[in-house]
Parts: sequence; C-alpha cells; structure tokens
Amino acid sequence: MNLAVREMTLAETRLVIDYFAGATPEYLDMMGVDPTKLMPPDQWRARLETEFTLPDEKRQLFIVIWLLDNRPVGYSSCDKITFGERANMHLHVTVPELRGKGIGTECVRRSAEIYFRRFRLKQLFCQPHALNVPAHRTLQAAGFKYVKTYMTVPGPINFHQPVTQWVIDPSQ
Ligand SMILES: CC(C)(COP(=O)(O)OP(=O)(O)OC[C@H]1O[C@@H](n2cnc3c(N)ncnc32)[C@H](O)[C@@H]1OP(=O)(O)O)[C@@H](O)C(=O)NCCC(=O)NCCS
Repeated sequence: MNLAVREMTLAETRLVIDYFAGATPEYLDMMGVDPTKLMPPDQWRARLETEFTLPDEKRQLFIVIWLLDNRPVGYSSCDKITFGERANMHLHVTVPELRGKGIGTECVRRSAEIYFRRFRLKQLFCQPHALNVPAHRTLQAAGFKYVKTYMTVPGPINFHQPVTQWVIDPSQ
C-alpha cells in the first residue's frame, strides 16, 4: 500500500467539510456527533482560515491528510492542543469501501508521530464513542493504551455519551 500522511492544506479542508456535510444522521450518531451542533460550511471554512494563520503554540486544531496512491482516503485532526503537553486526536477513513484494510492503523500511527513532533507532546489522547468498535481496535493496533471508559460530552459537536479513552504516553 502506497500510503502518505502529511499536513493538510487549507484548500484540502474541503474534504473534511464535505465529509460531515454528506454524512447521514445514523453515521453521525455512530460517531457520537449531534448534527444540530455542526457549524454551517461557510462558518466552518472561516474558522479554519483563521486557525491556519496561527503559530503552532496557539493552534487549537491541526489536520493531516491520508493519501493512498496520492488520492485522499481519509484524515486525522487533533484538537484540545496544549503545546508541549497534550492533544486529542480523531481518525477517519472517508472512503467507506477502503475501511477495514489496514489504512486506519498505519495512518493513525503516522499521524500520531506528526502530532508528537509538531506540538512537542508528552501525551496524545483519543476518545471515540464507547460503542465504536473499529475505532477502538484501530487505536489499540496503532499503539494506544486503554485509559478508561466514562460518560462525557467529548467535544463541541458531540452529545453526552459513553467514550473509551486511549493514550500514547512515551514516559509510561
Ligand atoms: C475507525 C477507522 C478510521 C479505522 O480505520 P480502518 O482502516 O477501517 O481500520 P483498519 O483496517 O486499520 O483496522 C484496524 C482494526 O480495527 C478492526 N476493524 C476495522 N473495521 C472493523 C469493523 N467494521 N468491525 C470490527 N472491527 C473492525 C480491524 O479488524 C483491526 O483490528 P485488529 O488490528 O485487532 O485486527 C475507520 O473504520 C473509519 O473511518 N470509521 C468511520 C469513522 C469513525 O468512526 N471514526 C472514529 C470517530 S472518533
């Protein structure tokens, strides 16, 4: 598999906006996303434009694109970034027929390496909806360690839900 993982350009963030705009309510529900909390595409684009101008120390959102044979097949974002300390990541293979083929595991591994280097992290977390089995198996296969399962509202676009939290902490 000819995979590449690199920082997403502003123009490429269209992939992210279209992915959420085109998602069914059932799909969003599986990811713990409340459709009424999603920003309208124009607002989201403006927010990304601002974010992309910030220095790394101030970034609150950073995105990497996953390419298979130079074609976009997914992405990962990280948010809740505290430079030099910690961040929280997300993972998406955006082409449904390419899921379950090992792309997620390899790209999560490479995305995590980019986040650690770029933001000089000590810890990287990820906490998908507790029932999202493929996400949990992928995180474990990519080297994350189980932390806990608990109820929370994990982010601004999510509803209250059980999540399972995973971490990479090289000091442990
Ligand atoms: C989660 C996701 C990124 C994983 O990527 P992927 O390319 O499908 O994962 P891989 O092929 O590398 O598989 C990784 C592990 O998950 C398992 N897995 C993948 N799809 C699965 C499924 N539908 N059911 C059960 N296990 C599954 C694989 O067997 C493998 O486990 P193993 O290493 O123990 O054998 C991808 O499935 C996806 O985009 N899902 C929809 C979006 C999503 O839910 N994102 C998480 C939101 S927080």
